[in-house]
Amino acid sequence: MVISRSSRETYRLGIEISKILKIKDIVSIYGELGTGKTRIIQGICRGLGVKERVTSPSFALINEYSGKLKVYHFDFFRVNSLSEAMELGCIDYFYDDGICLIEWPEKIEKLLPEKRINVIIQYHKERKNWRRIEIIRNP
Ligand SMILES: Nc1ncnc2c1ncn2[C@@H]1O[C@H](COP(=O)(O)OP(=O)(O)OP(=O)(O)O)[C@@H](O)[C@H]1O
Ligand SMILES: [Mg+2]
Repeated sequence: MVISRSSRETYRLGIEISKILKIKDIVSIYGELGTGKTRIIQGICRGLGVKERVTSPSFALINEYSGKLKVYHFDFFRVNSLSEAMELGCIDYFYDDGICLIEWPEKIEKLLPEKRINVIIQYHKERKNWRRIEIIRNP
């Protein structure tokens, strides 16, 4: 567990995470609204050499970037059923030769491969800009 004390620290942690990633890895990022899921993904993408602007793919649901590897950025916040996610072909992406970074993975938990890296971001009880961040490799 680490404590991030600013948006920038979360971004830097994302860059650190990028260093352990390999082709076909899936990173699922859990956390309430506004905890910094997109922010940490911006750091990961930076570390992976993505040059494009990284923002939440709220409408498209999937953004595709190219860095050293292909990077797929998902945001399932607005998805309300597994079939909706399946229609988007997300399962194909999960097994594709890229790296998947997923916001709101709990929405499609059942579709996710078990082998993945879970990042859990929580608000800190004491300070508005602090976050508790856990990184758990599964299995
Ligand atoms: N320690 C911190 N880590 C990350 N973000 C922080 C931190 N402190 C403040 N912030 C701010 O919190 C906001 C996080 O926004 P971000 O879009 O990354 O959250 P999110 O989890 O993706 O939200 P959503 O659920 O809407 O997708 C940013 O405005 C950022 O500047
Ligand atoms: Mg977001």
